[in-house]
Amino acid sequence: MSGSEWTCRLSSMHEWESPYYEPSLPVSEKSNPLTRDIDRASSGCIVRMLQACDSQMFLEEAGATYQRLMSDGVVETLMEVAKKVELILKDPRDSLVVLSGCGTSGRLAFLVTSAFNRALKELNQSPVYSYIIAGGDKALFSSQEAPEDDPKLGMLSLKEACEGKKRVLFIGISCGLSAPFVAGQLDLCLQNPQVYTPVLVGFNPTHQARDEPIPGCSFTFRSVVQRMEGLAKSQKAFLINPAVGPEAISGSSRMKGGSATKILLEVVLSAAHAAAFTHTPITQQGILQHMRAYEKTLEIPCAHNEGMSALLEAAGKSLQRGRRVCYLGWGSLGVLGLVDASECVPTFGADYEDVRGFISGGYNELKNNEGPLGPDFRISHEDFLHLVLPSLDDHDMVLLIYTQTDDVSDVEKLARRVREKTSNLHAVYHRVDGDTAATVQQDDINKLCLSSLRITWPSPASGLLQMQWELCTKLFLNALSTGAHVLKGKIYQNHMMDLQVTNSKLYCRATRLLQKLSGCPESKCEEALLKAVYKVDNLTVEITSSDISTHTHTARTRTKVVPLALVCLLTGCSLAEAELRLEQQPIFSAQYRLFHIGQCDVSQPQSLRGPTHTCTGLVCRVCILRA
Ligand code: F6P
Repeated sequence: MSGSEWTCRLSSMHEWESPYYEPSLPVSEKSNPLTRDIDRASSGCIVRMLQACDSQMFLEEAGATYQRLMSDGVVETLMEVAKKVELILKDPRDSLVVLSGCGTSGRLAFLVTSAFNRALKELNQSPVYSYIIAGGDKALFSSQEAPEDDPKLGMLSLKEACEGKKRVLFIGISCGLSAPFVAGQLDLCLQNPQVYTPVLVGFNPTHQARDEPIPGCSFTFRSVVQRMEGLAKSQKAFLINPAVGPEAISGSSRMKGGSATKILLEVVLSAAHAAAFTHTPITQQGILQHMRAYEKTLEIPCAHNEGMSALLEAAGKSLQRGRRVCYLGWGSLGVLGLVDASECVPTFGADYEDVRGFISGGYNELKNNEGPLGPDFRISHEDFLHLVLPSLDDHDMVLLIYTQTDDVSDVEKLARRVREKTSNLHAVYHRVDGDTAATVQQDDINKLCLSSLRITWPSPASGLLQMQWELCTKLFLNALSTGAHVLKGKIYQNHMMDLQVTNSKLYCRATRLLQKLSGCPESKCEEALLKAVYKVDNLTVEITSSDISTHTHTARTRTKVVPLALVCLLTGCSLAEAELRLEQQPIFSAQYRLFHIGQCDVSQPQSLRGPTHTCTGLVCRVCILRA
């Protein structure tokens, strides 16, 4: 993309706020105009696009349609919630602060509660924070999407976590204001106000909260939100829902949604801790100062664009060759590596082995509710050494993720072991300016690595620094894994084609995507989707009369459902033929990027079409451009 094109793209920073832009979709599901062509971008350009998307989190409010992260109303609510937490910290008897969510939202609930319980322990205080993730602890490192649709499960898990408690501050996180699991928990809180005070964190305006009926329930997410709005006036419920703009890959709330969740929760809990333990009053200025520190953090990855795009390129190459990317992390950055890696499976239809994370100390470091999760979830560096390292070679990429406060000699030891098998070793590490500890070892690690991203932060180190390191690492890893999958060809425009259809939100998203790409009416798209899910060319009454949960349950064991449905819709062929087409066109099947099926892309000059263009009726534009 040329400089002027990019400038023009940046001027469309606010385009998504127009009432005419994809009006039927909530902000969290809209496609971001900034990344419309991400599928055809170079690695450097991908990095810039992702950064521009992230920077939308901190857009100014002036003239905006939606409230922002630093809008007065949002900051005020953050202060009020921080005060509630402060009360619990000062008198924790029979009290609890519960953070709960699905997928990434639950993972961040885990990360944040772990950090703040650790902070309490350092102060010799007992823990007051507890997390819930839909699907239990295995959802920390794998996609468990069916439980997200279950409001009763949400209620039960909240009741269980709060057994015997007399005062509970419940913070439910649903980026899209959409998860029935969280709606059920909020409803429980609203029904038992003597114990529970509900807080909702999400990134859509309240009128865009999901309003689809939830089977077996008298409420929808939106009706719960409306009840909370009524109570918010008397501070009996709290809504924290700034808009942060559409995700870089449509609907992928693990990115900005996750980052903004982390920012908001940490701002609230830090303010509460400072008030309870260092007599620092909770003020608007204090909250804004913390926010600005995060805003500054966003500039760090920008200063390392070149290094980042080189890493993205390396990761993309490994994935294109069907090889692995491994993150080896330490401390909470290791947790972020585990999380980012595991999210590649549901987000990009990746294989479990494609991108994997490992953490020093394994479950001992993690201290999750359920402890070790068994042989399907091996996460320690020892597991990496035994199970993965022996099969690695130069085509596999390994990334070390650490900070100067970690055991650098351990990092060096592991780097040497990895280097025996692959030269494709890289590092990203954080250090404070002027810190000279372990310089020799760090230099040795650098020499072992093909590339090192050394991120230097201004001294002195403060409590905030670890959180900034984490945010910076999250942004960096999200960009790396997203960019690498874009380069692998998993994305069409800025949509994930091969999404799993394993809960009601994803089912609706898949139907919408089929409509957008095929131009066919909704009913026809849903029909095609069901045919692909049930692997039939004719739908039976039994299928059409079943509810969405039956469809999504069946879809758990299916692959390439959306690409298959799309081929059928565009060509009118049978499912068997569509399967054959996807198999026969390696570019098509390997890259899942469909473009003008049934038409030749005549708009491209012959020179650009390249040798792979055969005009058979199936044309992959990306392949043509990259040929
Ligand atoms: O259904 C899958 C998913 O989209 C995850 O990718 C995401 O992290 C989770 O749902 C939670 O979404 P939300 O925070 O909007 O409830």
